[in-house]
Amino acid sequence: MMIEKIDGSTRLCGVIGNPIAHTFSPLIHNTIAGKCGQNLVYTAFNVKDNLDLAIKGAYDLNILGMNVTVPYKSAVIKSLVSIDKAAEIIGAVNTLVRTEGGYKGYNTDYIGLQRAMLEDNIKVEDKPVILFGAGGAARAAAYLVGSLRAKELFIVNRTKHRAVELGNDISKLFDKLSVKALNYDELSNIPEQKYTAIQTTNVGMWPDTDKVVFDDKKIYGMIDMAVDIIFNPEETMFMKNVKNNGGIAVNGLKMLLYQGISAYELWNDIDVPENVVNQVYELLKKEFEH
Ligand code: ATR
Repeated sequence: MMIEKIDGSTRLCGVIGNPIAHTFSPLIHNTIAGKCGQNLVYTAFNVKDNLDLAIKGAYDLNILGMNVTVPYKSAVIKSLVSIDKAAEIIGAVNTLVRTEGGYKGYNTDYIGLQRAMLEDNIKVEDKPVILFGAGGAARAAAYLVGSLRAKELFIVNRTKHRAVELGNDISKLFDKLSVKALNYDELSNIPEQKYTAIQTTNVGMWPDTDKVVFDDKKIYGMIDMAVDIIFNPEETMFMKNVKNNGGIAVNGLKMLLYQGISAYELWNDIDVPENVVNQVYELLKKEFEH
């Protein structure tokens, strides 16, 4: 699956996080490198203490690119020489690209979600959208919803003030977008129409697979298409509820896939061929077969 021979010219990439042992990124990137015949190896780094030192050291070790995950997606920004506009607005970086003098930060979670939704026909343009959650992942999704020119955005969060804060930030960026912040009790008052929903909370993630952020059948009946960014289990309770009420729903595995594909493409300045993308996707799916 990975490259056949490691030699003096092998380029290194990796992911930084803490904890990091359960990451799927080495599987994604070593498979792409192997299939594309590129002399590149990808590994995981558990950074426990000094993030800034780790980034500077990685640069001096001539590491080509890095992914960054929990808990460093925001903290890493101060160690970069530049940052992509979308990543700056979202306030989170998951991909570092080697440039003159240091790394530039990107957010391929946002790009990955966009590619996943496009491929699975989860439409946002001119539609009312409900976003569940107001954390880091919701921030990337809200920015995507604004840039894809949704008609309206309802941000629903348990802690309402976080939804209000995210709503204010998004309204400033996209002045034509109508944004409303709600808590779950207020959700039943939203206007009756067909919504696209994006579920970004961790509620329903394995092992708590019987949990769901809300239970109102009337609301599920108004969701005609949805993405849950959870990928384990393959079908969350949220997705089941959407489907049982007549909508379509996809999980977050393609978002995971495409955040990786997009990072690989940024580092290597190539388009990963579709057949390789499909092979990586099949390998990821196998990881979750129980
Ligand atoms: P991430 O960066 O992965 O989005 P986060 O910033 O910790 O992680 O955000 C987690 C999101 O899941 C938040 O919107 C959180 O709601 P609060 O802001 O009210 O904490 C939401 N969440 C987590 N557990 C929840 C639960 N049991 N019920 C409803 N929402 C929950």
